[in-house]
Amino acid sequence: MSLTQSEQKALVGKYAIDKLIEQKRFFSGMKIGLGTGSTAMPAVERLSERIKDGTLSDIKAVATSFQTTIACENLGIPVFSMNAKEIGGHLDLAIDGADEIDPEKRLIKGGGGALLIEKIVAYNADSFVIVADQSKDVSSIGTGFAVPVEIVAEARVTVTQALEKLGATCVLRQGVRKAGPVITDNGNLILDILWKEIPDAAEMENEINRIVGVVENGFFCKNTPTVFIAREDGSVIER
Ligand code: 5RP
Repeated sequence: MSLTQSEQKALVGKYAIDKLIEQKRFFSGMKIGLGTGSTAMPAVERLSERIKDGTLSDIKAVATSFQTTIACENLGIPVFSMNAKEIGGHLDLAIDGADEIDPEKRLIKGGGGALLIEKIVAYNADSFVIVADQSKDVSSIGTGFAVPVEIVAEARVTVTQALEKLGATCVLRQGVRKAGPVITDNGNLILDILWKEIPDAAEMENEINRIVGVVENGFFCKNTPTVFIAREDGSVIER
């Protein structure tokens, strides 16, 4: 068997939801953060199937993007704000995709531009679960996939200069079928940044956020996730 990348994404999203239910780490009444992207979506779809088949009830979801909100609305999954009384700023579990995962399970996220709400959700959840295809499993982060940094538009030049002082090169993310830069769900811009030498991801996560005008960055080093990775051979490993 040799699964394509999109087949791996479909497999791991479904597998993780079923496995978490089997392990009793996912159960009725939970407050769940739902991620963004092409691997998180099959997990959201599987969650709705397990609600419809009666396995799960009284699930309250917080969506990390417009993409996920729309999916939940279409699939009948009840969505709340993190600020809603029903959620109270705290989640039991968050499940999401990732752009890269290193051996210490430090992540780069934000390829889909949703890093800010994804981090608010992930860092306010008791447990964090990542679903990914094999290509996301890498030996180090920061020199391959560019780290997204969400910034306030007025600070584009000053933040770029400060990031360059940290040794990174910066590219302003451009829209597709939209002239000019990507505007995030929160009305901000994104700089995609890369290093030549492997950076200390945990240190950089803090350093980047000290720059005035940075809203958030795509290093996720502070809530170590359980990671499910689908492989080309059709197996799924849990790490
Ligand atoms: C969106 C994200 C996604 O989880 C990440 O980009 C992975 O996406 P995909 O599952 O489509 O490969 O962080 O902001």
